[in-house]
Amino acid sequence: MGFPIHRPRRLRKNENIRRLVRETVLTVDDLIYPLFIEDGKDIKVEISSMPGIYRYSLDQIDEELKEVVDLNIPAVLLFGIPSHKDEVGSDTWSDEGIIQKAIKYIKDKYPDLYVITDVCFCEYTEHGHCGVLCCGDVDNDVTLENTKKQVISHAKAGADMVAPSGMMDGVVKAIREALDGEGFTNIPIMSYSAKYASSYYGPFREAAESTPAFGDRRSYQMDPANRREALREVELDIEEGADIVMVKPALSYLDIISDIRQNFNVPVAAYNVSGEYSMVKAAGKMGWIDEKKVIFETLTSMKRAGADIIITYHAKEVAKEIG
Ligand code: PBG
Ligand code: ZN
Repeated sequence: MGFPIHRPRRLRKNENIRRLVRETVLTVDDLIYPLFIEDGKDIKVEISSMPGIYRYSLDQIDEELKEVVDLNIPAVLLFGIPSHKDEVGSDTWSDEGIIQKAIKYIKDKYPDLYVITDVCFCEYTEHGHCGVLCCGDVDNDVTLENTKKQVISHAKAGADMVAPSGMMDGVVKAIREALDGEGFTNIPIMSYSAKYASSYYGPFREAAESTPAFGDRRSYQMDPANRREALREVELDIEEGADIVMVKPALSYLDIISDIRQNFNVPVAAYNVSGEYSMVKAAGKMGWIDEKKVIFETLTSMKRAGADIIITYHAKEVAKEIG
């Protein structure tokens, strides 16, 4: 029953038939654009390892936000760079913190733009770890208490969704209880459920000034060698109340995205991280690859693997191209 009856090439003959049988289409509806917002004035600094991506102070950010809105990108994911760091990252729950100011500014001026906040501590602590230190490691349960304060202040400032990225056990439950206790029952949680201890975060850490001062994150982020454990992390997060689960990084973890898609029915987000972005930009700059085509192929592969949502620094370029 094979050849010559069956000729798969018949359905590849021209672009019209290819369009008809195409299984995966990337759209602007899939995209979340990350933004780095720094406390201060007159700041618009390009991140050297991420061409096209900047850190902005709020007084410089309008052009960027207008572009995002005009391009019809549904959501932004906010990262803050505070003017003050300390042992515990107290800026994260201050009503005058950089993220709280940013949420208010954006929701006030661009009420239709959906604002998601990254919930973590590493950009706000002197030691650069994702929580409160105790005996040379991050103390899980003390960090949960501070996380509750952080999400409540984000919600009060007007955040539409919160996204915990610190990989603390029980963080989704703690956040759900804290939000519900303050009446924010309708704010969803997008959990960084399967977040790996990856070297692909390097450029982000330059951008957000969040490199750990000592050690690494392997006592809380997942071992890149583990696959089944991702399903366990996701299962726990869904039980605790996660509305959306995330895999991060994306490109080296397409098997994880696929596993989660096949085993659970919540929306799956993939984080196309800074190092993935930098590699494409660098090779593009050298003229070694067709950058635009590689971007589309890469992001399409994430959707094909099962992602519903892609968080990507390429969001604006992709939206421009799709139109
Ligand atoms: C902080 C955080 C990181 C990223 C998102 N949130 C870095 C890290 O865990 O060190 C990485 C994003 C990227 O590389 O684009 N918890
Ligand atoms: Zn962190």
